[in-house]
Amino acid sequence: MSVIAPPAFREWMAAVQSRMETTLARLLPAADALPAKLHDAMRYAVLGGGKRVRPLLVFGAGEFAGATPEALEIPAAALEMIHAYSLVHDDLPCMDDDSLRRGKPTVHVEFDYATALLAGDALQAQAFHVLAANPVAADAATQLRMLDVLARAAGSRGMCGGQQLDLDAVGRDLTEPELELMHIHKTGALIRASVNLGALCGEPLDQAERERLDRYAKCAGLLFQVIDDILDATADTTTLGKTAGKDEKDDKPTYVSILGLAAAQRKADDLLTESLDSLAPFGTRGGRLADLARFIARRTF
Ligand code: IPE
Ligand code: IPE
Ligand code: MG
Ligand code: MG
Ligand code: MG
Repeated sequence: MSVIAPPAFREWMAAVQSRMETTLARLLPAADALPAKLHDAMRYAVLGGGKRVRPLLVFGAGEFAGATPEALEIPAAALEMIHAYSLVHDDLPCMDDDSLRRGKPTVHVEFDYATALLAGDALQAQAFHVLAANPVAADAATQLRMLDVLARAAGSRGMCGGQQLDLDAVGRDLTEPELELMHIHKTGALIRASVNLGALCGEPLDQAERERLDRYAKCAGLLFQVIDDILDATADTTTLGKTAGKDEKDDKPTYVSILGLAAAQRKADDLLTESLDSLAPFGTRGGRLADLARFIARRTF
C-alpha cells in the first residue's frame, strides 16, 4: 500500500475494502451449505485477502458517474469473484504452479487440485449469477450490456485469452507489442471492465466521456501488470504474499525480462502519465480515479 497516498483516499479505500468483505461474504454460498468442501474453498479463495483493486475501480468509476454504493457493490463483487477464480486457476500446477497466494497456501494446496478447479469454475458462475440476479442498472438493456462486458472481459478474447498467450510465451523472447497484447488481455481486460461496469451503474455519460474513461482504464490495466512484473523481480515473498522471483524462475517474458528494470519502470511512469492525462479534462471530478491510478503505480505489493 502506498505510504504517499493522501489520507482521504486511504480512508475511502479502507471503507470500500471493508464494505466489499461484507458484501462478498453475503454473496458467496454459506460455508456449511452442501457441498461444504466446495463452498469452503470458494470462500477461502475470495475472503480475507487481496487489495480489491477491481472493486475499488468499480467504486471509483461508479461514484464518478453518480451511482450508489448499493448498486456498485454488485458488479464489484462479480469482478472480484472472477478475479479470485483467475488466481485459483493461475496458481494450479498446470499453470504457474504456485503454493502461496495472499499470504496463505493456494487453494489446490489447502484443499486439492480437483476442488481448486471446481472452486474456480463455481466462482465464475457465481459472478454471473450475482450480476444477473441483482439488477443495478437503470434498465434491463443496460444490465444485459453489463453481463456482456463481464463475459467478454473474462473469456477467450479477454483474461482467458491472455492466460493462453502467457502459457505459450514461456521460454520465448516476445517483442514489446506481443508482450503488451498478452498483458492487456490477461490482466488489463478485467481492470478495464471494472471501470466500465462501474460507470454503467450511474448516469449515462456522453461518448467523449466514455472514451476518456475507457482510455484511462486501458492504461491502468496495462500499468497494473507492468508493476506486477516489476514487483515479482524486486519485492520479497513476505511482502507480496506470493512467491517472489517466480517469473524469472519459470522463464516467463515480462516487462522486466524484455526491457530491463529501468525501462520497465519508465514504461510504468509513462502509463501513469497517460492515464492521468485521460482524466485531465474532468478536472477535480476525476480526482478519485487519478488517486487510484497513482495507487496502482506506487503499490508495493
Ligand atoms: C494479481 O492480482 C494477479 C494479476 C492480475 C497481476 P492482484 O495484485 O490484484 O492480487 P490481489 O487480488 O491483490 O491478491
Ligand atoms: C496473472 O498473472 C494474471 C491472472 C491471474 C489472470 P500472473 O501470473 O503474473 O499473476 P501472479 O503474479 O501469479 O499474481
Ligand atoms: Mg500467470
Ligand atoms: Mg501467476
Ligand atoms: Mg505476476
